[in-house]
Formats: sequence, C-alpha cells, structure tokens
Amino acid sequence: MYSEKVMDHFQHPRNVGEIENASGVGTVGNAKCGDIMRMYLDIDDNGIIQDVKFKTFGCGAAVATSSMATELVKGKTIQEAMEVTNKAVMEALDGLPPVKVHCSLLAEEAIHAALWDYAEKHGIKIEGLEKPKSDIHEGEEEEEEEY
Ligand code: FES
Repeated sequence: MYSEKVMDHFQHPRNVGEIENASGVGTVGNAKCGDIMRMYLDIDDNGIIQDVKFKTFGCGAAVATSSMATELVKGKTIQEAMEVTNKAVMEALDGLPPVKVHCSLLAEEAIHAALWDYAEKHGIKIEGLEKPKSDIHEGEEEEEEEY
C-alpha cells in the first residue's frame, strides 16, 4: 500500500528536530485527524534556506511527507520552496494512498506557515504566498468526497 520511499522516510525521517532562533516557524494541524506539524526554517541573507527541521505529532504518512518536504526545500531559494507543493512531495515519494493525500497537505501548509512567519518578521511579501490556515481541515472536505 505504501511505496518503498514512503516507508523509508517514515522509518528514517530526515531533518527531525528544532532550530533555535529559526528565521521562520510554522505550525499547522488538522482538526479532523488531530495531527500537528511544526516546521522550522533557517534562511540566510540571500534568501536561501540553509537548514530546515520539523516535528510531527501525526501519522506515518505525515512523517514521511514532512521528511521529504524538508529534503526538497533544503538549499533552495524561497521562491523554489514555494513550488514544493503537496503534489510535488507525493511525486517524490512515488505516491500516497488516496486517503492519505491530506497528510501531504499538512507538509505543504507547514512550509507556507514558516515562510509566512519569516516574511512577517522581515516585513517582506513573498510572491504567491497567502496567509496559511492553521487548520488544513477546513476546505479539504470536497477533495475527500471524491474518493
Ligand atoms: Fe492526519 Fe495523516 S491522518 S495527517
């Protein structure tokens, strides 16, 4: 049911932890399943993501997607990180079962929330970034009904 990559990232998650004095921190949750994810970004003066760490209190798919998401944004520019959507994360993991798609949304939103925090602290605007929802459960309903 899960790809080898999902199992690998679940069993050996990359970049787990916290960053002290992070440039941006974002926390998102899903009220429906109760899972929570927190993402820390360390962004240098050139807008490059030097380091990223995450903590997830959530299911295996949430662990695997956040692990992969951190790998995808590390060393990237802010704009490149904006392109790391949940679809990109799922592709990088060779897919997720349909009922687990919402877990990957948590990873995408956590990155956005951390970038939002960074932008607010620096008084800048990041193109294409909208205020992230703290609960991704709102608005995900329709998607789930298709399955
Ligand atoms: Fe909630 Fe996976 S079941 S994030």
